[in-house]
Amino acid sequence: MSDAPRSHEAARVRIAQLVPELNEHARLYYVEDAPRIPDVEYDRLFRELEELEAAWPDLRRLDSPTWRVGGPPLPAFTPFRHPTPMLSLQNTYAEAEVVEFEARVKRFLGAAPGEGLEYVVEPKLDGLAVELVYRDGVLESAGTRGDGEVGEDVTSNVRTIRNVPLALAPGDGPAPSVAAIRGEIVLPRDGFARLNERRVAEGLPAFVNPRNAAAGTIRQLDPRIAASRPLEFYAHSAGLLEGASFGRQSEFLGMVLRWGFRVPAGWTLARGVGEVLEALRALEARRDALPYEIDGAVIKVDRLSLQADLGFVSRSPRWAVAFKYPPGQVTTRVRDIAVQVGRTGALTPVAVLEPVAVGGVTVSRATLHNEQELRRKDVRVGDRVTIQRAGDVIPEVVAVVPEEGREARPQFEFPNRCPVCGAPAEREPGEVAIRCTNGLSCPAQLRTALRHFASRRALDIEGLGEKLAEQLVERGVVRGVADLYALDPQTLASLERMADLSAGNLMAQIERSRGAPLHRVLVALGIRHVGEATAKVLASRFGDMDRLVAASLEELEAVPDVGPVVARSIYSFFHHPENLATLALLRDRGVKMEGESKQAPPAATLAGLTFVITGTLGGMSREQVKEAIEARGGKVTGSVSRKTDYVVVGSDPGSKADRARELAVPVLDEAGLARVLAEGPEVSRGG
Ligand code: IVH
Repeated sequence: MSDAPRSHEAARVRIAQLVPELNEHARLYYVEDAPRIPDVEYDRLFRELEELEAAWPDLRRLDSPTWRVGGPPLPAFTPFRHPTPMLSLQNTYAEAEVVEFEARVKRFLGAAPGEGLEYVVEPKLDGLAVELVYRDGVLESAGTRGDGEVGEDVTSNVRTIRNVPLALAPGDGPAPSVAAIRGEIVLPRDGFARLNERRVAEGLPAFVNPRNAAAGTIRQLDPRIAASRPLEFYAHSAGLLEGASFGRQSEFLGMVLRWGFRVPAGWTLARGVGEVLEALRALEARRDALPYEIDGAVIKVDRLSLQADLGFVSRSPRWAVAFKYPPGQVTTRVRDIAVQVGRTGALTPVAVLEPVAVGGVTVSRATLHNEQELRRKDVRVGDRVTIQRAGDVIPEVVAVVPEEGREARPQFEFPNRCPVCGAPAEREPGEVAIRCTNGLSCPAQLRTALRHFASRRALDIEGLGEKLAEQLVERGVVRGVADLYALDPQTLASLERMADLSAGNLMAQIERSRGAPLHRVLVALGIRHVGEATAKVLASRFGDMDRLVAASLEELEAVPDVGPVVARSIYSFFHHPENLATLALLRDRGVKMEGESKQAPPAATLAGLTFVITGTLGGMSREQVKEAIEARGGKVTGSVSRKTDYVVVGSDPGSKADRARELAVPVLDEAGLARVLAEGPEVSRGG
């Protein structure tokens, strides 16, 4: 029991000693990981302060650590207006885009090409963005980002976060009159795991990821909830500052560290784009070793004066960019398990999910691969599962998240009939997949066969998408792939969502595909084990379809890269009456199926030039335009910038055409494109 001061004044004096002392110890403990006094000593001082405040409530200072335990629940959050707007960052997903960013910065600043500007590379914390406002060095209020102008006032919750300074640690000079510090609230991995364990034990739903847990906690009206969870705050940028200044981002990080904040661990100063890329790679390598989740890195021009010169475009700064890592794993819940039928009749189980964002894309389905995998992972409807999506790969279910009570859910029963046509589904000996036995008489198989036939690497018939393939099959217009070559414009135009114009375009695309080289036809036929590479080898070895059809097993096996399994697959494909009938029909309907004549590659007339293609081109598919440009040494990119040399505009162009006009980038129509392909770039762009 401490001997409590008997006068108001004595209490005030004692509180004025205790508060900074306790705050300093909290900083040493939570920010520096270097406590100087034992926990019991801290607790004793803390209790003394609590008792004084209980006796003289008017003496409870705003920076008192007793706020950390969380006050009474709020009736509602009040709006929080940011002193200056909180903006966001442009995202990049590839190193090439970072190189472009750096080049853009230098171009804007008029820097010499070889000049290496300095950048700070920081981890991009995957948390909840907030702004903390300190007046005369004391935390006055804190707000969520909201729409960037107005968020929610979450001061009571933020005060409970142990590593948030309630008062700025005294630096060299007086405390700034206003300091708005921005950063992220995160829940470190270990704290997240403990929190979820506790929740599951209590029969509560687990949080999906640390970010959601942090956000969910800050949005609670009862601050005691936040106080009970191990949230942390990391400062990364400045809002309004009065009475303090810095000349570089790297100085800012040092300054806030002295004020008692934590900053994202592992930030580096990099000179020039080479060092920036190195820093990005180093950070990614360390990613899993960090105590909290990061979803990328932020690259910032170090010098504030240069930041000011660069300014902003719409709602993001020109002086910084986010580099997003390929998405990792997220968890979500399985609403249902569907079974799809693919081109080869394979039955593929697919988890239908509660939609979840993975790397900027919302995912609502993920593959379970096959019946064996489904059984091995034992995924059941209602389960929480981890899913991943790496690059362009289809999202897949990785594993079930263990949960109380999941055993009670029924196991999934795999169908023994095709869910589309009802034919028996069987597994051939030595195979993993269970397949529908109905061949192209199964609408699902025909539909996917059509899609495959028209796909880019096959006959590249632009406009023949999922929906159209479905209609063609459903209406009975197409009963086999060769029926595509018997379509007439009237029938096409009568289909849903098919305007005359697009029917015309589609007819032109189909017409063009009649002349496709042999290897593309081989890919299109969907012979098992025959992808683009094998198709090319076969085409160059046999020269035309007839010779390939007539090839013996031995001849096929003699082809480089064709093993016995592949040879057998090709051989049996060409000995199946139905397939031979398809080939005969294709030929009757004008599909040539000839090898490519060996032409010399075109000269590199477009070397160093960058093209963007937008809209629909009647005569050539986009893929063909791209190939033609690339064959001549040019590059095709997805977005128009000042660096773009030409924008190729077809009919129904997108916003890229507007952007081209805005930036005064030359525009090519189909005729212009043909000219540039034949004769090289037009002379002198002027300016
Ligand atoms: S600087 C003008 N630095 O990412 C915006 N932001 O996608 C300056 N974030 O709104 C932000 N880590 O909430 C910055 N080291 C970091 C960051 C970071 C995470 C968040 C921040 C921002 C969002 C942009």
